Amino acid sequence: MLASTARGDHEAVTERSVVSWQPGAGRVVGIGSALSFRQPTHDVCRGNRETLVADAVSFLADEGSVPLTGRPKGSATLSAMRERLDDDPHRPGYHVSPPANWLNDPNGLVHWNGRYHVFYQYNPTGPFHGTIHWGHAVSDDLVHWEDRPVALSPSPDGPDRDGCWSGCTVDDDGVATILYTGGRGTAQLPCLATSTDDSLTSWVKDPDNPVIDELPAEPEVLRTEDWDGEFRDHCVWREDGVWHQLIGAGMEDGGGAALLYVSTDLREWEYRGPVLTGDRDTAGTVWECPELLDFGEKQLLHVSNYEDVVYFLGQYADGEFAVEQRGRLDHGDFYAPQSMWTDDGRTLTWGWVKEARDIGAQWDAGWSGSLSVPRELSLAEDGGLRQRPAPALTELRGNGDHRDEIRLRAGGCHELDVRSRQFELQATVQLTDADAVELRVLETPDGEERTPIRYTATSEVVVDRTQASTAPEATTDSQRMTVTPYDAPLSLHVFVDGSIVEVFANERRCLTSRVYPERTDATGISLATVGGSATVTDLDCWELDSAWRS
Ligand code: FRU
Repeated sequence: MLASTARGDHEAVTERSVVSWQPGAGRVVGIGSALSFRQPTHDVCRGNRETLVADAVSFLADEGSVPLTGRPKGSATLSAMRERLDDDPHRPGYHVSPPANWLNDPNGLVHWNGRYHVFYQYNPTGPFHGTIHWGHAVSDDLVHWEDRPVALSPSPDGPDRDGCWSGCTVDDDGVATILYTGGRGTAQLPCLATSTDDSLTSWVKDPDNPVIDELPAEPEVLRTEDWDGEFRDHCVWREDGVWHQLIGAGMEDGGGAALLYVSTDLREWEYRGPVLTGDRDTAGTVWECPELLDFGEKQLLHVSNYEDVVYFLGQYADGEFAVEQRGRLDHGDFYAPQSMWTDDGRTLTWGWVKEARDIGAQWDAGWSGSLSVPRELSLAEDGGLRQRPAPALTELRGNGDHRDEIRLRAGGCHELDVRSRQFELQATVQLTDADAVELRVLETPDGEERTPIRYTATSEVVVDRTQASTAPEATTDSQRMTVTPYDAPLSLHVFVDGSIVEVFANERRCLTSRVYPERTDATGISLATVGGSATVTDLDCWELDSAWRS
């Protein structure tokens, strides 16, 4: 018997994350999928059984040289997995993506021992959310990345048996320490792990996990059919020698909340109460992945409420957040962001860029999800939020095209010399009497497929997906954001990468979108006006290099 959902008389059918473990001198190879050893009448069961047996036999016969399907063992395997997807035109080249399979939230972002570490929610068993591990990528310059082995895996008998969910990394007097959410059955509770090496490759889980073992009594945490309490995700910082931790939650008598705990050793935590609670109707039922950022004069708290990333700008003091302004961090497919602090005091933020295609297409592709480019968040002179692409991204620039000025007449169109699916474009757009200017990307020569990024006289930026792809199942809804009061003229900064379109408007508002053109010649870039004339100045377009070292 290699693996089983029964242990003694305990039926463990819900233990989806059991992968492999070593009882005594033996080795058990587990599987994260339903399996039947009865007469295999069902195709899926038969397929699973055959895969299990074939993989297990070859693995036991020749460990190492025959990797188990979908079970990455080390950097070489991860690179091979990544290379196999190289020809997929929808795969991003310079965004952080999983080597294959599934990625969601960025986690534990940290600049450690001179290198930048990005961990992320990762399912090594397939391109779907389940059996969540922490994937790991490392960089010396924030733009070239290398895959590292999985950093955290669920422990079959641990409080994180069903998943190692989102969390953060802190420096505990020289020891890199992760606070993350362990999922087990209907419980989600905070767990801790410490790194045993400076490359942050090996992590040891605290034997006393979970470090908080019950939900706060007051106010009552929202209980659902699936969960004892909506209570997860961590943001930890040290203030006056005391560790502070925010945990995301939903409240029984309210909306989402960010709950505060304090500790002197990261292991014993004392509950202090919500720093902010939202209105269920306007700010969501549950707040996931809360993060508090300090910009000196003001603080920013952002939360992800299943739909949007909502941010609050204001004053945080003594466990309470006084809101002065509120907004959305992004108006598209961007979720659960997390930040890293650079040595020179800048805040860099990455978000999960979700897929906008159905589950079948994600299975066929063999991968799902990517991280955004890093954004530098700061306070603008007027006290509002500024978001701009991290300056390090300029390192990726290759061939370019520069135009001082392009005058567009009514109905006119101007094609750029660069043709690419992996580029950056920056320009200033002034509408004279035009109703709109369109920057069309991922465009076929006959215009059958194209994604216009439209700046309108009504002060909106729209990513129009109605013609983005000829695939019948492709998403056709458009995504939009208002750019007032920062819109005249509009500085547009756009990053296109495979199936990702990321738009920065006047270094203020962002819209991250996904499109999946089918045709290999969907590489054109052009400018056009709608209903009048307009001027585009200081246009630069660069092809960008890939980020992954093989
Ligand atoms: C946000 C989230 C977190 C959770 C993680 C699980 O996308 O749902 O709340 O920790 O993803 O993968």
